[in-house]
Amino acid sequence: MHGSHPGEHGLARHLTVRDLTALGIAAVIGAGIFSTIGTASHDGGPAVSLLFVFTAIACAFSALCYAQFAATIPVSGSAYTYAYASFGELAAWIIGWALIMEYAVGNIVVAISWSSYFTGLLHGVGIHLPGWLTMGWQKAHSGYEAVLALMQAGKPLADASPDQMKAYTTWAQAPTLFGDWKLVVDLPAFLITAVITSLVYIGIKESKTASNLLVLLKLLVVAVVILVGAFYVQPANWSPFAPNGLSGVLKGVSAVFFAYIGFDAISTTAEECKNPQRDLPRAMIYALIICTILYVIITLVLTGMVNYKELAVGDPLAYVFNKVGVTWLGGIVAVSAVFAMASVLLVFQLGQPRIWMTMSRDGLLPPVFARIHPKFHTPSFSTIVTGLFVGVPALFMNMDFVVDLTSIGTLFAFALVCGGILIIDPYGKSNARFKVPYVNGRFLVPLILVLGAVLVLTQAPEAVREFGQNLAFANGSEGFQSQIPMLVFLLACVLLAVVSFTKRLSLLPVLGLLINLYLMAQLHVTNWIWFTGWLIIGLAIYFNYGFKHSKLNKVAAAR
Ligand code: ALA
Repeated sequence: MHGSHPGEHGLARHLTVRDLTALGIAAVIGAGIFSTIGTASHDGGPAVSLLFVFTAIACAFSALCYAQFAATIPVSGSAYTYAYASFGELAAWIIGWALIMEYAVGNIVVAISWSSYFTGLLHGVGIHLPGWLTMGWQKAHSGYEAVLALMQAGKPLADASPDQMKAYTTWAQAPTLFGDWKLVVDLPAFLITAVITSLVYIGIKESKTASNLLVLLKLLVVAVVILVGAFYVQPANWSPFAPNGLSGVLKGVSAVFFAYIGFDAISTTAEECKNPQRDLPRAMIYALIICTILYVIITLVLTGMVNYKELAVGDPLAYVFNKVGVTWLGGIVAVSAVFAMASVLLVFQLGQPRIWMTMSRDGLLPPVFARIHPKFHTPSFSTIVTGLFVGVPALFMNMDFVVDLTSIGTLFAFALVCGGILIIDPYGKSNARFKVPYVNGRFLVPLILVLGAVLVLTQAPEAVREFGQNLAFANGSEGFQSQIPMLVFLLACVLLAVVSFTKRLSLLPVLGLLINLYLMAQLHVTNWIWFTGWLIIGLAIYFNYGFKHSKLNKVAAAR
């Protein structure tokens, strides 16, 4: 076990399973359902609802593994702590490094999405901020280029999405600095991060009651959207159900997965639960089930209300109601979204500095990251670094790009958590209050993989052909590169089939590992390159700092 955390011990244990489920929902329902669902539905059409079901299954396997860890090691620190216990220091560092993608980079998405709703709201009450102060540079630039390309190709402007048109005008109207640099920044995204960071810095914590109330608000809004929206559904919009085929649906993987991120964050409250071993596993699963049901229905309502092509906007839930003329509800949705997303921002902005604090206590980061403010009793330095890490990129970056980074980092962390169970308890023999049910994977893992392969070969021959052509360099080296993620996944399938057969591995963690890897394989190779770069930076820091300063190494050296 790693270093003890005196500051966290002695916390009052008053969270029940209901509070924990509420906390899970508080962290989960946010930018995903209020924003990123828009682009996913635009790309995949109504069939994205099925992707929500599939992704929920992936999360459920990971949740079971998280739950066993939470029941075995009921201390705060989440996946970082679990990796420390199961794989050792290096893997723990890697997972802690990947968790920055989930918490801090994820919060960049939430801040940008918050800004989208907030500026929409201001617009509604007659306050019109200039576009170049409310959009990230990257988004304005790529939208401008896309519309320019349409014009150069002689295509009608109607082919561009509303967001692309907005980006185009924003870019064209933005002031120019230093010769030819366009000043386009998302100021509200930066400001909300600054406000939330200040709250976290002075120690305002979401109390149990506040978080429960916010969850009620979110659930109420989602329920009203579903109930009122249902009256405006035109079933004709559901046909075709998957207008861009399987590849269109799978384009939404990172957006859809992003919507589920957060159920794992409740494991950081392990030391404040009345009965963590019993309640944490239950709460994670309850939160997942509730969110899945809501997400699937919302997707069907959204894509039923308007044509899927219209949904590539930053505030789809408000947009659809404004579109069908129910502007009062569009306004209510926008106000609620602003509160709902601010609460997600708060949860993750609280979580990130505490993970850094834990890593610092283990000697993997400089001691300043564990420094506690004498008056506010919060990890002050880590909190400010988190604020800058989230706020500054939020000024410039494009949300879709950041969503992809968040998802790949989190999927990686989930995969490691599933792998961790295979290491610490491959046969389900642990005495933990909760454990992943053991099902012998000896024959089932290979069988499921063979069935999967048959399904793909018979049902998606086109995709298989394209895969083969890319491997044979028929589409140049770019085509080959695009298949690297899939090759990694296939290699993992073969390896896990063999090891499951020889070692009778537990089926569910293996499936969790494979599904997370599969979802990762659906992300574009550029995300893999960015993520690999991120890991390399992390490893460089570890070998230059953590390795030399770690508590474990000092103990070993003293022996
Ligand atoms: N799942 C969280 C959200 O959608 C991160 O905002």
